[in-house]
Amino acid sequence: MVQEHKPSGAFRAPESALEALAEARDEAPEAFEPTATRRIADDTESSRASRGWWDSNADEYQEEHGAFLGDDRFIWGPEGLDEAEAGLLGPADQLKGRDVLEVGAGAAQCSRWLAARGARPVAFDISHRQLRHAQRIDAKAAAGSPSGIALVQADATALPFRDGSFDLACSAYGAVPFVAEPVRVMREVHRVLRPGGRWVFSVTHPVRWAFPDEPGPEGLSISGSYFDRTPYVEQDDAGRAAYVEHHRTLGDRVRDVVAGGFRLIDLVEPEWPAWNRQEWGGWSPLRGGLIPGTAVFVCERD
Ligand SMILES: C[S@@+](CC[C@H](N)C(=O)[O-])C[C@H]1O[C@@H](n2cnc3c(N)ncnc32)[C@H](O)[C@@H]1O
Repeated sequence: MVQEHKPSGAFRAPESALEALAEARDEAPEAFEPTATRRIADDTESSRASRGWWDSNADEYQEEHGAFLGDDRFIWGPEGLDEAEAGLLGPADQLKGRDVLEVGAGAAQCSRWLAARGARPVAFDISHRQLRHAQRIDAKAAAGSPSGIALVQADATALPFRDGSFDLACSAYGAVPFVAEPVRVMREVHRVLRPGGRWVFSVTHPVRWAFPDEPGPEGLSISGSYFDRTPYVEQDDAGRAAYVEHHRTLGDRVRDVVAGGFRLIDLVEPEWPAWNRQEWGGWSPLRGGLIPGTAVFVCERD
């Protein structure tokens, strides 16, 4: 049974993780009743759940959202903020030759945009199935002209890269909302960046946590405390987590960035543009015109 207060789901496919979990157990859905709850989940449990959930749901996610994301666009979130216009990583004409790490890259759409500008992206993700979609898109687009994107399966809390390997790092809703201790991700990204490197990441705007994850008017009334950091967990009847999402307040996120060794140079809250009539889970034109849906943190290391 899904509890009444369901906080804002992070940029996820709208279908229920609970159904996926039931399928994974190879049982009829009616014989298996997983629950959504709020409880502590550490990094190990969160990573295990994320890997399983994204492996199970990657196909449907890409089917549902692939057209909006584009094969080679760099979209920061459901509002449609496009790096081509936002320039949060710096001027596009200065990306050439830069080593860029994409964190929780999914099908590596952002990395493909970066590669087209002459950057040298490495796209990593915890989900093998998401990376298979990256390969699928590469194969479809390339036909003899490979994108040059290196794909790596890894967990954002323990990066398999040497210190000072990258000039830039970026993440559009990848990994950060799904880990219990995001400061570990900040420290790892700081470690693999070169001095002066920029780290830009987007997450669900923390304000959303206090509202139900609904695109309509029911998503406009506060249903829980913004200050309650207890993770949102979907779990099976043995208590095994199938999906975990972590909440941090805006102040927590700033402190994570600073504790990771970065300076925060901008916090972008994209406004919902008139051209975008598309709903994405709980993100919608209605809510987008009233409350923020995405927060983009622009950070630099000395
Ligand atoms: C919402 S998707 C974002 C990817 C892409 N930017 C997009 O818009 O589709 C979140 C991604 O984060 C990945 N992820 C979740 N936890 C992770 C972790 N601990 N380490 C690395 N990737 C993780 C998931 O596998 C998924 O591909």
